[in-house]
Amino acid sequence: MSKRKKHLVTSALIYANGPIHIGHLAGCYIPSDIYVRYLRSIGDDVKFISGTDEHGVPITIKARNEKKKPKEVVDYYYSQIKKDFEEFGISFDIFSRTSNELHHKTSSEFFKELHNNSVFVEKESSQYYDEAENQFLSDRYIKGECPSCSYEAAYGDQCEKCGSSLSPSDLKNPVSTLSNNKPIMKKTKNWYLPMDKLQGKIENYLEDKSNWKSNVIGQCNSWLKEGLKPRAMTRDLDWGVKVPVENAEGKVLYVWFDAPIGYITATKELIGDNWEDYWKDKDTNLVHFIGKDNIVFHCIIFPMMLIEHGEFILPKNVPANEFMNLEGEKISTSRNWAVWLNEYLNDFPGMQDELRYCLITNLPESKDSDFTWRDFQAKNNNELVSIVGNYVNRVFVLTEKFFNRKVPISSGKNETLIKELGSLKISIENSVSNFKFREAMSYVIDVARLGNKYLTDNEPWKKYKDNPKFVSEVIYNSIQVVANLAILCHPFLPHTSNKIFELLNIKRLDWKSFSGNIVSSGHEINDSTHIFSRIEDSVIDNQIEKLNKSKQKNDNIMPQKKVIEFDDFSKVDIRIGTVIEAEKVPKSNKLLKLKVNTGIDERIILSGISKFYSPEQIMNKKVMVLINLKARKMMGYESEGMLLLAEDSDGNLSLMQPDSNITDGSIVA
Ligand code: 2FM
Ligand code: ZN
Repeated sequence: MSKRKKHLVTSALIYANGPIHIGHLAGCYIPSDIYVRYLRSIGDDVKFISGTDEHGVPITIKARNEKKKPKEVVDYYYSQIKKDFEEFGISFDIFSRTSNELHHKTSSEFFKELHNNSVFVEKESSQYYDEAENQFLSDRYIKGECPSCSYEAAYGDQCEKCGSSLSPSDLKNPVSTLSNNKPIMKKTKNWYLPMDKLQGKIENYLEDKSNWKSNVIGQCNSWLKEGLKPRAMTRDLDWGVKVPVENAEGKVLYVWFDAPIGYITATKELIGDNWEDYWKDKDTNLVHFIGKDNIVFHCIIFPMMLIEHGEFILPKNVPANEFMNLEGEKISTSRNWAVWLNEYLNDFPGMQDELRYCLITNLPESKDSDFTWRDFQAKNNNELVSIVGNYVNRVFVLTEKFFNRKVPISSGKNETLIKELGSLKISIENSVSNFKFREAMSYVIDVARLGNKYLTDNEPWKKYKDNPKFVSEVIYNSIQVVANLAILCHPFLPHTSNKIFELLNIKRLDWKSFSGNIVSSGHEINDSTHIFSRIEDSVIDNQIEKLNKSKQKNDNIMPQKKVIEFDDFSKVDIRIGTVIEAEKVPKSNKLLKLKVNTGIDERIILSGISKFYSPEQIMNKKVMVLINLKARKMMGYESEGMLLLAEDSDGNLSLMQPDSNITDGSIVA
């Protein structure tokens, strides 16, 4: 028996700093899942590796924003992300995490090996530093104007607008994202990968990769053309893998150094001592599935690290996808412009394959694509329901009607049909092997189309009376098409495939079982049910409304104002008071004239709340008053202070009040 082909298939280790959305699925997790499910089905030996990337500035920033420890953040999102992937049938063999001990050990040893081989250049240089926060400002800790597109909030590692890869020194007018302060320069030592010196080795490696996707090769060539530059593989941070050499206190490995090594760690975790059989055998097909923003790291930096280490195989292919937009706009976590998987599942329980299908038919394989809710509905109703579901149901209903759910007898005359089916199978194989999953999906739908056409051409429902033998033949063949459809759709729509096998009342079969005689005559199939259901307009309208509402909410929130010193705040004197008189200001539809007991005195305060509170409503209310605001004249009255009010983006006002009967004059701070 020939040895099974070995594959190591990885899907990007996702940052554990937020939940996952459709863009993530379309970027690399669905493509890799299709590929892996197909390889397993043809009997190859596959290890499907992924997990969470738990180091780096994206994590520490999230923790800081949520006032949590980085570990709390990654623990929370690790579980949520893992669960979402499971629900959508992403069939990882292992979903690991880079904060685990084995990974710290593996990446440390990797670094030490390169260090011992004198690969790194140790260099002291001046870096941006936030004095108030005692923090060197690398990556996302610093933002400023992008030198390529002038976007004013580009990060120190990348401009999210134009995609340029940056370093902090490229930014114009940089500020710290921690404090909004202007940074100073401070000296620090780091370990650099001399990518300029190693460029030739990468050029050799990429030389025979003309079969790679053109978007990937194009990006690599443009990096090489520009000339690679040394890149620091260490950072002055306290969250990450400690730099395992002397005189490196307070420094950790650059997240893009340790993260890809996470693929190696996860393999060790999965198969123990035999991990080298995969990572050190040149016959292993190592394939990295990623999104386009990860290309340089997987096609240039990681291979460079592997080459310098010397013992590992290099990626055979990196089929990166472009990005998926949503309703014509870039998916954005901060603007809540996304379809979150956990929310989708709440709204569409049990409809994982319906989303998988819409995403597969829309994968951003060669250019950015767009997900729209209307397209989701159309693909579900016009393709899954009308073509696939309808076909399977027709076959089951006819079997029930004419043969009491028993597979009828056949003389085995189905050559043309099975030949056509066979050529679709080959087309699917070719497309999947070439990472053309959209195309492959369309051939799967063609299987159902072929089955539908066969039924329509032969009209068994009209012929039973006169020619039951012929009908027997047609239904027998149709059941075989349905069984083959279950096999062929498995990599794409695994839940649907399982449903069809259940309906057929047979165990799950793999690719090799493809044949014209899968289900035997006399076998009893189950009752027919509809495997897909129509989605009504109102359901889609609700989704669009939900999306627009959350966007509006986010778009309207005022951004944070400039950071102030505590001293600035302590100049403000806010007290608890009680409204003891209230009346409308004549000729003003906004102002109320109030007399407020501030504990210190009784004073007149004019407040623009007349649209929201009547004098009666505000009488005797406890309020918060800014008392040391310079007096101002309004509508002929002097106002000696200001009531604290909250104002939403529509201009609605709400009075700020203490939540106990605390005495007037108490200080608010
Ligand atoms: O872009 C990202 O989400 C990165 N965390 C991907 C890392 S992939 C690999 F190198 F681990
Ligand atoms: Zn830019």
